[in-house]
Amino acid sequence: MSLIELLAKSEFALRTASSIMPPSLVVRAFTAGRNIFLPRFAQDVPAVSFVPPSDQGVTAWGLQFRFPLWNAAGMFKKGYGYDVVAAQGAGAFVAGTTTSRARAGNVVRGIAWPSTQYPNSHSASNWMGLPNEGHTAVASRLSKVVKVPGCPLGASVSAEPGLDAEQAIPELIEGMQRYADAGVDYLELNESCPNVPGHGGGHAALDEGLLSRLDAVAQSFLVKRTRTLPVVVKLSTDTSLDQLPALLSALIERGFDGVILGNTSTRYAELREHVHHDDRKLYDYFTSTYGGGISGQLLRTSSLLSSATAVRAVQEINPSHEFNVIRCGGVMTADDVTASMVEGVRLNQWYVGYFEGFAQHGHKLYREMSACIRPTRARTES
Ligand SMILES: Cc1cc2nc3c(=O)[nH]c(=O)nc-3n(C[C@H](O)[C@H](O)[C@H](O)COP(=O)(O)O)c2cc1C
Repeated sequence: MSLIELLAKSEFALRTASSIMPPSLVVRAFTAGRNIFLPRFAQDVPAVSFVPPSDQGVTAWGLQFRFPLWNAAGMFKKGYGYDVVAAQGAGAFVAGTTTSRARAGNVVRGIAWPSTQYPNSHSASNWMGLPNEGHTAVASRLSKVVKVPGCPLGASVSAEPGLDAEQAIPELIEGMQRYADAGVDYLELNESCPNVPGHGGGHAALDEGLLSRLDAVAQSFLVKRTRTLPVVVKLSTDTSLDQLPALLSALIERGFDGVILGNTSTRYAELREHVHHDDRKLYDYFTSTYGGGISGQLLRTSSLLSSATAVRAVQEINPSHEFNVIRCGGVMTADDVTASMVEGVRLNQWYVGYFEGFAQHGHKLYREMSACIRPTRARTES
């Protein structure tokens, strides 16, 4: 067991003690620990590699994903970590989210990038505010990655929050071009961070800002691609089901290749009912002090419902080009991946579940997951 695996296991075992500590101390301690852990974790390449069985692979956009699950954006903000997840057996890797200018993210009361876990609810909150080094720095790092077959390299980008569209959009497109030149296999356009201005508070709405960004990316990037480079748009997990068909039509008409449903949630009051009693004090403290976005098991039901709804809406729209739905939010176990498959959702991402899996199984987490996935057909397949 590596030191990083041991640290993750020990921290996980101690987490439930948070219910007897003052919430402000829990947030301070968890955030500090995470800031020390993550950069080291991204360098902890396992000595033994795992390759999932070939029948668990998915081909999408002509790319081979050897497993239907990989990390969600925000885990490897600096772009380090491909070698770690590739050796673990992940279906892909995504770096970022990056913006055109380096960002310090949210720093308050001496806490850089506040976040916390809700151990009994298998969930988390963060109010990081997209800290990152910028598209150029991370694209240059990714250009040096040695790719493993079946593990595509992705990058997540966002327009610079708070900038006028006249400046933000050309800078976004230039950043996407940097990643294209760096040889990434796919791009995520993050339109749903609740912790920065310009993302609609994390709620997707077909407003002018979103449409003008989509139009600009379509005209200045999508139509100019000279190789396979799918661009998927990451929407909020709180996107209303009624709005989904219109949003998907807008993406499909403009030539986007997929959607991720979704990002973190800001439905604090609604989700509170499902928060474990022992986590409520911490939940109330974090959501009332910082706000932020909620992730993990609390999103399991809504992400399945919205991604399944999206699959059906896409079938009705019947696009002339391949358009895939990626589920993200509360994917914690092999059963979640199986449930996605049943709904025709072939690709999944995880963040909170990944770290819970890592705490329990260390670098063998994809091996464990792979062993537990049941071969399943989508409902719509005969
Ligand atoms: C600490 C933290 C940082 C995140 N940063 C990003 C980010 O930079 N870009 C992004 O698109 N999503 C980000 N997310 C959201 C995740 O990618 C994912 O959409 C969300 O956590 C729901 O998935 P989960 O329930 O599996 O955790 C972040 C989530 C967490 C917990």
